[in-house]
Amino acid sequence: MIQCSDDVFENVMDLARRRGFIWPTSECYGAVAGFIDYGPLGAMMKRRVENIWRDFYIVREGYYEIECPTIAQEAVFIASGHVKGFSDKMCQCPHCREYLRADHVAEAGNITNASVMKNEDLAAAITSCRCPACDTILGNVEVFNFNLMFSTTIGPGSQRTGYLRPETAQGMFVDFSRLLRFYRDKLPFGAVQIGKSYRNEISPRQGMIRLREFTQAEAEIFVHPNEKNHHPSFQRYTDYRMPLLTFTRQLKCEDPVEMSMREAVDKGIIANEYVAYYVALTHERLRFRQHLPDERAHYATDCWDAEVFSPRFGWVETVGIADRTDYDLNAHAAQSGTPMTVFIQYDEPKKTSRRRIIPNMSVLGKQYRTKAKAVFAALEAALPTPEGADIEIGDEKIHIPAHLFEVRDEVIDIRGEYIVPHVIEPSYGIDRMCYAVLEQAFDEDIADGEKRTVMRLSPKVAPVQVAVFPLMARDGLDTIADDITRTFHKKSILAEYDDNGAIGRRYRRQDEIGTPFAITVDYTTKENNTVTLRDRDSMEQVRIPIPELTETVGALVEGRITFTSLHRDKTV
Ligand code: GAP
Repeated sequence: MIQCSDDVFENVMDLARRRGFIWPTSECYGAVAGFIDYGPLGAMMKRRVENIWRDFYIVREGYYEIECPTIAQEAVFIASGHVKGFSDKMCQCPHCREYLRADHVAEAGNITNASVMKNEDLAAAITSCRCPACDTILGNVEVFNFNLMFSTTIGPGSQRTGYLRPETAQGMFVDFSRLLRFYRDKLPFGAVQIGKSYRNEISPRQGMIRLREFTQAEAEIFVHPNEKNHHPSFQRYTDYRMPLLTFTRQLKCEDPVEMSMREAVDKGIIANEYVAYYVALTHERLRFRQHLPDERAHYATDCWDAEVFSPRFGWVETVGIADRTDYDLNAHAAQSGTPMTVFIQYDEPKKTSRRRIIPNMSVLGKQYRTKAKAVFAALEAALPTPEGADIEIGDEKIHIPAHLFEVRDEVIDIRGEYIVPHVIEPSYGIDRMCYAVLEQAFDEDIADGEKRTVMRLSPKVAPVQVAVFPLMARDGLDTIADDITRTFHKKSILAEYDDNGAIGRRYRRQDEIGTPFAITVDYTTKENNTVTLRDRDSMEQVRIPIPELTETVGALVEGRITFTSLHRDKTV
């Protein structure tokens, strides 16, 4: 493999723009930072990435997908803590007037722990740092908190404030009671959502990495707080070993430590089996870094980021896996007045003794009339003495003599208890994954003595799955190629017909957009009904009978067979 000499980011973004993966949004009006358009190939690739995620979380893990609005009323985000606390530290360059992330300016100036400093301390720390926009030393600046939510009003007038959601998660929390019923009142259960989230990022200058509108794929898994160490499928990953950059190792500037998931949970390095299970499930070509205690979101007791290495951006957080405890459900229960609990029935009822106070209703009812209900309720909760019970109704103190109630000690069966579930949340950023896919796929090598640009996309995410070329657009070769293309479409395989230009140029065009396989219909086809099938990466070709094409290409795309496993005697 020949490494590209210049900046991979520039090369990838140039190709992405040219070939219809990613475009600046509303370009004719001057693009706005933090927003992108997915072009025809990008949108298709993104859909395929999302569907792989769906396959993991819906089909294999068994959590159904829901879809909530992207705008919600203010109460939702007051409860979630976003109205009060979802902000970044901002300052304005006094020279070029650009708004800047103060903690990022500090980090670029090698100042550590910037995100947890007080605003005044951060302002003092960055006076000698350079503005990333105009490269001038900042000098004195004010640092203040900037809330990242986009606000709006719901309906005409301005009475009802709404916000564009900054995470898809809250929709799943506020639907808790309905989800609980859907899953027949049994824990654990989960819901997933793929959709747009919005954050008014202060200075998004990192392409697809930091956007103001982006797609998240999140799972919220509701579990009994005492069951977090009993994931039903944990045995799958008990011995799975992977490097972990724990917060203690980060503080000591040490490298990640490798250990099994069992060891990580038993040593208390990962909070519980649920978090460890989703860390292992997500792990591949990634590293996992634990959040430092003062870096964690207000709701999390443990959080691990899956980070992908990018030559341009360093380690980029792409997935966050957090134990959100009962924070969100408690907050929404308090804000909305709707209980968000689950009744957990015990295997065997538990016996418990209790003291009941039974009022003499006929006497007390007549005596207290309109207040009688309050008197009964207060009496039931009172601590009686042999002389009677003292209760309070509003400001009034009342003594109820002992002969007006009976005290009964009884043993009762308790069938179960109400608990507030904890939530384990794997949260994936689809756009960052798409960028990582593009960046890791980008390559250059030599083909036929010329430089070739090739996107080595996995066939599972490549937008076009197979290209079909007639060697010449005549002599019936074009008709055969057209028929083959239609046959692929009937099998839901995205095939692109191309008869334009020299065959070598057509291969190059498809290599550049990552099409993994290409078929050429030539004059031999007319003799024996076979075509050539070419592999993008090795550029090897085999001859395949036309009736076997859809099955062979389908199996290659789904990864059921490899190109090298195709019969060598078919090699052209
Ligand atoms: N519900 C939890 C949550 O939203 P987060 O770490 O703020 O946690 C989860 O976001 C993922 O969403 C991140 O790992 C990242 O991939 C993606 N993400 C967050 N902010 C983003 C942005 N401004 N642009 C693109 N992706 C973003």
